[in-house]
Amino acid sequence: MELSVDIQALAYLISAVLFILALKGLTHPASARRGNFLGMAGMAIAIAATLMGGEVQSYGFIIAGVAAGALIGGVLAMRVEMTAMPQLVAALHSFVGMAAVLVAIGTYLNKAAAGQLNPVLMGELSAGIIIGAITFSGSVVAFAKLQGLVSGAPVIFKGQHALNALLAILTIGLGIHFGMTESMLSLFIMTALAFILGFTLIIPIGGADMPVIISMLNSYSGWAAAATGFTLHNNLLIIVGALVGFSGAILSFIMCRAMNRSIFNVIFGGFGSDDAGGDSAAAQAVQKGVKSASVEDAIYWMEDANRVIIIPGYGMAVAQAQHALKEMMELLEAKGVEVKFGIHPVAGRMPGHMNVLLAEADIPYENVLEMDEINPEFPTTDVCLVVGANDVVNPAAKTDSSSPIYGMPILDAEKARQVYFLKRSMRPGYSGVDNLLFYQDNTSLIFGDAKDTIEGMVAALKGGGH
Ligand code: TAP
Repeated sequence: MELSVDIQALAYLISAVLFILALKGLTHPASARRGNFLGMAGMAIAIAATLMGGEVQSYGFIIAGVAAGALIGGVLAMRVEMTAMPQLVAALHSFVGMAAVLVAIGTYLNKAAAGQLNPVLMGELSAGIIIGAITFSGSVVAFAKLQGLVSGAPVIFKGQHALNALLAILTIGLGIHFGMTESMLSLFIMTALAFILGFTLIIPIGGADMPVIISMLNSYSGWAAAATGFTLHNNLLIIVGALVGFSGAILSFIMCRAMNRSIFNVIFGGFGSDDAGGDSAAAQAVQKGVKSASVEDAIYWMEDANRVIIIPGYGMAVAQAQHALKEMMELLEAKGVEVKFGIHPVAGRMPGHMNVLLAEADIPYENVLEMDEINPEFPTTDVCLVVGANDVVNPAAKTDSSSPIYGMPILDAEKARQVYFLKRSMRPGYSGVDNLLFYQDNTSLIFGDAKDTIEGMVAALKGGGH
């Protein structure tokens, strides 16, 4: 059955609406599943309407491509660990970038042979190839850094910004030359330079800044798809590309704002490596005047508390302590203690990192509060348990104007009556900055892997505590 142009346009419109509803659904964990489903339905309609649209010459390659893609994608999605999600997303962006480059080059060759090239099309092709190639090689570097295939540390050398600026000017210049002359040589050199530019733009960025960059590459992949949409005269691809382009850009902006840094600082800063600080042991804590405590000490206070606020951070994800936390929450609640989770917008290493892990452990959404909601509750809270978080509770962000995190909004953990940090050593967090909260009178550190410590607490609670 071949769809008429009108029916296809209607199907595309329905898909576009479904994609917008999907984005809306993805703004809250409670509606995220529905959002995903709507997005999948939109994509299924879009693919079906495109395949039935009468422009398809032969279905053989398409079926083979869809089958191979579905198989690889399905296996990857089922096997990927939650902590490896950023690199999976980076890998997928690289495909979008490469697809944009290949479609543009294929269109150029076809239209050139048919004598149908025109200035507008040439402009679209240049834009699609440049953005697509940068997205491809940038995403490959991001993937390699996050997967640990290469060091996550920033690669910085003298003249780096000048080199990038030169590459960018040459690439755009060649894009204009290609648009005006249709020269195959310009096309070739422009494509090669854009691939190199993607590489040189991403290597100075530290592994820990990668989530922001991935969100930015997500945005680029959207613009590459939109350019492809113009080339193929496909309205839905233009709409979807713009949705992805803007949502990626907005997300990058939100992440930067939550870290109190500008996007330029992230791109040019070389801030944060994947190995923050030396390997200091608990003994160093004593030298530095930090108090360490035992599981029993913390349980003693928590059992008698009216309210306990748990602040999860990157270390909870590393330790996979969320299930043990759920059990501890239930045991405390059974003793009449109110337990809440306070989530900082950039806790962990990717947007929504903590929410996803807590949802995976079936911790009810009503127990999980955003920073602005929970902050007024700290002064009346008996115990604050910081589970593998660090930067997001560092009061230096408020008091030390020389600190790299100065100005970043933080969770007001220091206002709770007792603060317990669960971490393995005196090492700092992602920003590499010492935490002033460690030295506060009411703060104690419980050293060890967060999951082991929480399991110890669960056992102590089950054993009747003190
Ligand atoms: P961090 O400040 O990075 O601190 C994590 C802490 O977890 C470390 O101090 C580490 O101390 C501890 N830890 C690691 N593994 C552990 C384990 N197995 N058991 C117990 N503790 C463990 O994390 P945060 O407070 O979540 O802050 C996030 C940081 O990442 C912010 O600076 C933010 O700007 C940055 N960032 C976030 C994002 C997004 S979107 N979330 C994106 C880019 C950057 P030990 O090594 O001593 O155990």
